[in-house]
Amino acid sequence: MTLARVSMAHNALGPAAIQPLIRPPMTAEKSHREQFERIPTSVYKNNSEAAQMLAAEVKALIEDRRAVGRRTVLGLATGSTPVPFYRELIRLHREEGLSFADVVTFNLDEYYGIESSHPESYFRFMQDQLFSYIDIPAANIHVPDGTVPMDGVFAACQAYEDAIAQAGGIDLQILGIGRTGHIGFNEPGSTRNSRTRLIALDRVTRLDAAADFLSEENVPRFAITMGVGTILDARRLALMAWGENKATIVAQAIEEPETEVVSASFLQSHPNARFLIDEPAASALTRNRLPWLVGPVDWDAATRRRAVLWLARTAKKPVLKLVDEEYNHRGMGELLTREGSAYNLNISIFNELQHTITGWPGGKPEADDTNRPEKADPFPKRALVVAPEPEDEMLSMAGTIERLVEQGHDVRIVYQTSGSLRTPDAAAAKFARILLEQSSFATGLEAQADYARLILRQIDEKGPFGEHPAELRQLKALIRRGEAQDAAAALGVSPDRLVFLDLPFYENGRYRRFRLTDADTDAMAATLAEFQPDQVFATGHLADPSTVQALAFKALDRAMQKLGLTCSRWLYRGHQPPLKPYEVDMAVPMSPAQLEFKVAAINKFQAHTTPDNLTGEHNIAIAAQYDELGMAEYEAIEAFERWA
Ligand code: GLP
Repeated sequence: MTLARVSMAHNALGPAAIQPLIRPPMTAEKSHREQFERIPTSVYKNNSEAAQMLAAEVKALIEDRRAVGRRTVLGLATGSTPVPFYRELIRLHREEGLSFADVVTFNLDEYYGIESSHPESYFRFMQDQLFSYIDIPAANIHVPDGTVPMDGVFAACQAYEDAIAQAGGIDLQILGIGRTGHIGFNEPGSTRNSRTRLIALDRVTRLDAAADFLSEENVPRFAITMGVGTILDARRLALMAWGENKATIVAQAIEEPETEVVSASFLQSHPNARFLIDEPAASALTRNRLPWLVGPVDWDAATRRRAVLWLARTAKKPVLKLVDEEYNHRGMGELLTREGSAYNLNISIFNELQHTITGWPGGKPEADDTNRPEKADPFPKRALVVAPEPEDEMLSMAGTIERLVEQGHDVRIVYQTSGSLRTPDAAAAKFARILLEQSSFATGLEAQADYARLILRQIDEKGPFGEHPAELRQLKALIRRGEAQDAAAALGVSPDRLVFLDLPFYENGRYRRFRLTDADTDAMAATLAEFQPDQVFATGHLADPSTVQALAFKALDRAMQKLGLTCSRWLYRGHQPPLKPYEVDMAVPMSPAQLEFKVAAINKFQAHTTPDNLTGEHNIAIAAQYDELGMAEYEAIEAFERWA
């Protein structure tokens, strides 16, 4: 790593405020990349590595400035993204004596209309995630006030800008990125020069926050946010992003021209801005998506398939119709030379894709399985479907579950978490009211009536977002469980084949603040040891590490490793972007009737975990892509990749 320096012109405070910036070394590969990437970007194996790197920079910054008698002004962000970074700062404070006594902070934003004590206020978030663990004086902390009356908002925003200026400007601004590409809450349409102000939240942003607020209607409609101009005034900017769900917007911000539609793209014209992202979040960058356009390529099987299918899509042709010129014109001359001709290459990829299609997801008994995704033996198989939250498995693989059952396999579904946070208050209230009413008809049901009153009181007392008392949480879990049982029954899986693990990380936490422990891994390991699966279906491998899906996957992965289980393992996409044809290792086709069945199973859930794929639109889309590539035309396809 080399240390670069900020340009003097941008540094209002003179030499003392010049900050080191760790940049990746310049290499030939990097300069190729720079044709595409307009913001310096460091890709890390995982978010803890990135968080450590950034926290070390912050430590150096604070200490350098302290050495010349200056305070450090940090701009801070909320959301799940910076959490590992805050944990590392806390560790540096506790274990390496890093003091924050002379650090001043300004948070990017705050929801409008909520008290600072509200469990989802950004003020509270910062207390819970960082401030209460470090020695920063309360007077040095600034978070926009979400409770100022409407007619005082303008003045409050101006005062926030003035306070930043009085502190000497922000030395380092930490940023996350929303799915709409926003920084802070600068939703699409925010201009480059915008300043701190009140803003209406976009629908996508509110949907993303719905889990935190336990339903969309609870999410505030407005927020106060630093403007893009305010943010760009910081002397350094570090934007972090994790997980595949951020990949598309990250690529857009880094590679496409600056635009008000994606406020993070404005970092392109800042002299000292950098993205720190993990591998899944980097997956849509040209260097990873179309590496043959960027530099020399290792033509392994995956890259070869990706290149041919990309070419077919770009040329709008089925694979078997691609010709030599098309390969040459799109930077794939080298691949063609290795393969001999387009003809050979086309046939080989066509066959590969053809071999991903199977109506036998558990393997076809007594068939030659050389070119089939799943082995024929053993038959029947013990197939374990692992769902982080009830409904994940239905959204992604209801059709496959039905096939497995129908073909005689022993299918078991493990629900890792109860999904209680997904059950609306109204569902629990309805249940309690029925109990209460019933007890008024018959004698001897006093205990039932007391229970019903307790539930109704708990709903009332906690309000829309308060912590759930144990009884209420348990009732909500049971309601979700009932829905999961109905959905499974619709596919022919009986209740005794369902395992509800209620992993403790979920039971003891809230969205974006979950913490995995050994108890989670142990519970998962016990289930695996008992069932001894021949085949496992799981999800969450590329998800944002703070999500239920990512943590549940981690618990499963650790448990598998602990037991040294070697069975065939498949990944479904769950809440992550659907697989592209080049990523698919097993494609299970569905007839129109099977798709209807799937949708009916999904509809057993009153509240959905995501608005995506409720009508099987992802499955229809992938079938259409297969069709366009020259494969048979199916109604829908459920796709899986191998878990290596
Ligand atoms: C909110 C915050 C942003 C944050 C974004 C992403 O919109 N205002 O500052 O970057 O959420 O959140 P997360 O990090 O949880 O993905």
